[in-house]
Order: sequence, then structure tokens, then C-alpha cells
Amino acid sequence: MSEDLTHPSVARIARRGADPDESARASRVWWEREADEYQAEHGDFLRDVGFVWGPEGLDEEKARLLGDPAELSGARVLEVGCGAGQCGRWLRAQGVDRVVGVDVSLRQLQHGLRIDEATGCSLATAQADAQRLPFVDSAFDVVCSAYGAFPFVPDAVAALREVARVLRPGGRLAFSVSHPVRWCFPDDPTGRGLTATESYFDRRAYVEEDDEGRALYVEHHHTVGDWVRAITAAGLSLIDLVEPEWPADNEQVWGGWSPLRGRILPGTAIFVARKGD
Ligand SMILES: C[S@@+](CC[C@H](N)C(=O)[O-])C[C@H]1O[C@@H](n2cnc3c(N)ncnc32)[C@H](O)[C@@H]1O
Repeated sequence: MSEDLTHPSVARIARRGADPDESARASRVWWEREADEYQAEHGDFLRDVGFVWGPEGLDEEKARLLGDPAELSGARVLEVGCGAGQCGRWLRAQGVDRVVGVDVSLRQLQHGLRIDEATGCSLATAQADAQRLPFVDSAFDVVCSAYGAFPFVPDAVAALREVARVLRPGGRLAFSVSHPVRWCFPDDPTGRGLTATESYFDRRAYVEEDDEGRALYVEHHHTVGDWVRAITAAGLSLIDLVEPEWPADNEQVWGGWSPLRGRILPGTAIFVARKGD
């Protein structure tokens, strides 16, 4: 993870394939560069000690997709793509002692250290690619991820198999991604973002490239069916697919997410699954 990452500006946007290494590298490039602005813009909404599943604001405090925190107190929990660790820190504050976060971006983890010091509530973290987790088999009872890593992996089956590997039999996984139907629409929070322009079935990645064709940002599209089949192929059983509705009191615009679009279209998909015994 010591490679010198350059930050040239985006020369063009492509729809094309991007393999696991190129995708992870692009995530590092993008998040190292954007982490400061991201935390400044969204930190209040995420809260330093808070578990928000996506721009709709669905909060684990109410959603309980991981179960009752009181029953998790002895559990070993992994947060994948933890960013500054707001979700893992919230679990720690609920009395879940053994929580670890991993993220591919050092700068995101540095923001986590800053928040650890400010709040006095700290999270153990490691810099790692979700596609190659640095943990032994069955190391965790629960794996969670709020928009961390899974929107950025090309091979959903391989990524979920890697998570299933570190989950103990009977363990639970919950992760959120952009709702796959969003890929049909321009990423525009205004009315222009309500007219479908792209095929839902076009699996090519969205890639921002520099002038030499190197990926600077990569996001991957998997349809709802792709995710369901990937969960099953990884040896997991789907328990729930949550599509949070946009609450009337949430007036924020977050990139292409907005109250206007949120009233009409789903913005987030949260998959909840269990590993067989
Ligand atoms: C939208 S943030 C979500 C983090 C946090 N839950 C939040 O809401 O701010 C996505 C995070 O996923 C991380 N990420 C992207 N690709 C990754 C990968 N392959 N492995 C690990 N982390 C990754 C990014 O560095 C970033 O911190």
C-alpha cells in the first residue's frame, strides 16, 4: 500500500471493464484525494459515532439489520470499507468490544484516527482491500458495510466469497450499495435524473480516466439478480433486501441523491444475508 499515487485530473469518462486490481487502485487514488472534502461535506450527516446505511438516513439504531446491539456485545464484527469508521465506532459505543474496520484508503483511516481522538471512542483499523481480507477463516460473527467497497468491486461473487470466508458458520452479513436501478438514470439530483437513459442490463463499469487511460475512479454495476445470485454462490442465504424510502424530513442533496428523486426512485439497496451452519 506504499505506492506513490498521482492525482491527475479526469480526461474522460468511459463505460468499460475494470479488473479487481485496477478497481482497487482507482478506489485508493480517488479516496486518498477526496477523503478530506468527503468528510467535511458529509461528516455531520454521518455523525462521528453513528451508523447510517445511506443518503436516505436509515439508521442502524432503528433498522437493527445487524440484530439487537445488546446481543452483539460479545460478537467479533468487521466493517468493510469503513472510511472514517463512523459505523464501527457506533457499534463500539453500543458495547460491542471487538470491532475492526478495514479500508483501502489511508487518508480515510487517518480521518478515523482524528475522530477517535476527538470522541474518545476508538476503532481498530487496517488498510486493506476488501477483495483480499487479511484475516483467517471464520474470524468474525458479523460483517457490515455501508457503501464501503461493494459498489467498487467488479466480481461480486469473488468479493462475497471472500467475506463469507472470514464469517463463521451462522454469521451475518449486511451491506449497502447504490440501488442497481439508479444505473439507468443520469446521476443528477434534479428532474433530469428522472428520465432513464441507460440500459439496466449494461454491466460495464463507470470509469473516470486520466489522459493516458488510467482509471481514477471506478464504480461497478451489478443488477439485483446479480447480487442475489452472488450471495447464494458465496454460500450465504438472503434474509432481506431493504430499500429505504426517502423520509420527508431529509432535505439534503448528496451527489445524485435528493428529496425530489428519492420520492420516486429507490436510492439504496441493503442486502442482509446469513452464512449456513
Ligand atoms: C462511500 S465510503 C463509505 C464509508 C462509510 N461507511 C461512509 O459512509 O462514509 C466508501 C469507502 O469504501 C472504501 N473502499 C473502496 N473500495 C474499497 C476496497 N476495494 N477495499 C476496501 N475499501 C474500499 C473507500 O476507500 C471509502 O472509504
